[in-house]
Amino acid sequence: MHPMLNIATRAARRAGTIISRAQKRLHDIKVDRKGHRDYVTQIDREAEAAIIDTLLTAYPGHAIRAEESGNHGDSDFVWIIDPLDGTLNFIHGHPHFAVSIALQIKGRLDQAVVYDPMRDELFCASRGTGAVLNGQRIRVGNAKLLEDGLLATGFPVRRSAQINDYMSSFSDLLVQSADIRRAGSAALDLAYVACGRLDGYWEFGLHEWDIAAGALLVQESGGLIGDPTGGEKHLTDGNVVAGNPRIFRQMLQVLAQHKDSLRRLSS
Ligand code: IPD
Ligand code: CA
Ligand code: CA
Repeated sequence: MHPMLNIATRAARRAGTIISRAQKRLHDIKVDRKGHRDYVTQIDREAEAAIIDTLLTAYPGHAIRAEESGNHGDSDFVWIIDPLDGTLNFIHGHPHFAVSIALQIKGRLDQAVVYDPMRDELFCASRGTGAVLNGQRIRVGNAKLLEDGLLATGFPVRRSAQINDYMSSFSDLLVQSADIRRAGSAALDLAYVACGRLDGYWEFGLHEWDIAAGALLVQESGGLIGDPTGGEKHLTDGNVVAGNPRIFRQMLQVLAQHKDSLRRLSS
């Protein structure tokens, strides 16, 4: 394993222990509101502090871009961290959430870890060497037709005014696919595309920390990821489509029929 990936997995497991212990005492956990339908707990912050401590102890000169504590440092090596992806699930004891850590080197994704502490599933990828789940090589699924594809999405719950713009393409993808899931963790949605548990995934209005690790997992397992127009602005704009190559292309064709609503959603 690449030494930086090794450190990232150590950080993810440390955060995972904090999160899974806290699931057993949820009634003690303080929940704050960061914004409209946007929650944070002391556990998100504790997990993030543990991750940053582990990474900077090993690599004191590296920079950090973290959801809860923001940006620190200036380096070609940047760690992008979502300490708890799926906070709303976590708060409800709904056991589907993950730790997401990615390393960018000179702006290019290089290492990725998504860790599900409830199932003890560790998804890892290193640029150019593939992706693994608990040490076993993973590949995207082989569904050929959208009608056989199991898709996932996330609802734009923080942008209620644009819900109709979202629903028009949602309806078409629902009618044209096998079915759609909404599980509540973008990082796990992408990890599930990487290992074939899902054939495709799309969501609007995400942040870099939701997507970065999952994006490398998808690419290193033979999948494609991009923005809904087929470009590569997903990390910066937060609008994302991913899938096995065939399903990815068919999803883009469906989304292309909703250009005006996509433009409003993407703005
Ligand atoms: C959220 C999850 C969710 C997605 C939201 C994200 P958080 O991350 O990834 O699936 O639909 O848009 O904000 O806030 O739990 O880290
Ligand atoms: Ca997140
Ligand atoms: Ca989070």
